[in-house]
Amino acid sequence: MKEKLEQIHQIASSKLRKVASLKELDDIRVEFLGKKGELTKILKGMKDLSKEERPVVGALVNEVRVKLEENIKEVKEKIEEKVLEEKLKKEVIDVTLPSKKKNIGHKHPMNIVLDEIKDIFIGMGYFIYEGREIEEDYYNFTALNIPEDHPARDEQDTFYINKDFVLRTATSPSQVHVMESRKPPYKVIVPGRVFRSDEVDATHSPMFHQIEGIVIDKNITMANLKGTLDRFVKELYGDDVKTRFRPHYFPFTEPSAEVDMSCFKCKHEVKKGCPICKGSGFIEILGCGVVHPKVIEMAGLDPNVYSGFAFGMGLERITMLRYGIDDLRLFFENDSRFLEQF
Ligand code: DAH
Repeated sequence: MKEKLEQIHQIASSKLRKVASLKELDDIRVEFLGKKGELTKILKGMKDLSKEERPVVGALVNEVRVKLEENIKEVKEKIEEKVLEEKLKKEVIDVTLPSKKKNIGHKHPMNIVLDEIKDIFIGMGYFIYEGREIEEDYYNFTALNIPEDHPARDEQDTFYINKDFVLRTATSPSQVHVMESRKPPYKVIVPGRVFRSDEVDATHSPMFHQIEGIVIDKNITMANLKGTLDRFVKELYGDDVKTRFRPHYFPFTEPSAEVDMSCFKCKHEVKKGCPICKGSGFIEILGCGVVHPKVIEMAGLDPNVYSGFAFGMGLERITMLRYGIDDLRLFFENDSRFLEQF
């Protein structure tokens, strides 16, 4: 019996040495230790043994069982280790690989400057009015005292939707909507897109942006206009910038002026060959004037009671000056190499 048990142990041990998978290992466990296994068979045969032999054989069977269980446990651990090792080898994560870059968006340079401009005017008590991009011919031209034969009305300059509607050529028509819709006094700015039938080049685009301003109250004069715009330019470019008002003509203002500011590039000393002011020492930035009495009257207000001033500036131009950009097309191309710089 003892020999038989030795033999069983040896067979089991040699089988265990060749085991390659957990499944095979479990088969061996069942074969030797299971309910119908080799060791159980011996235990069942014990009834035929003598009283003296029984405890001896019982102890031997137990001994072999314990050994086999230990062997199985060892082999099991080894196999599990091997499986884990292979799994880890297969699932290598290279932590030195660059991660996926998350591109976080930010404001367009023109919106950065527009927000600054809005802040300045809101700080002076202005509110923001959103005008319309499709305007009646009446608001775009007639109500602004633009005569029938004015070149701006030419089909070559303006996008006509039909005989009565156009894509607004300036934000100025919104002045009239403001005047018609609320009782003065008010100070308003109107930022928005405007459209002209222009060929695209470094300084022209058929769509561009303006910021209109209009103030209507009693006793408004050119002095209010000058003070406001001088303050605005200083807020935007610094207190050492000077403004210059040049007489000009606009049909909807009288008197009218164009405003220049001293060149920030050549530090307000006129420098020959300055790329910004072309050596003149000044840069043109906007058009303005005291609102024409006819415009006030056409909008339904009494020009003997109310007066006002208005101004209009190009956002592209102001942004180009701010960042030293020399080609307007860059704003609309959406090239991230350009946009990332702001
Ligand atoms: N509408 C003018 C333009 O597009 C700009 C302008 C000039 C607006 C004088 C005004 C103004 O309000 O008073 O060139």
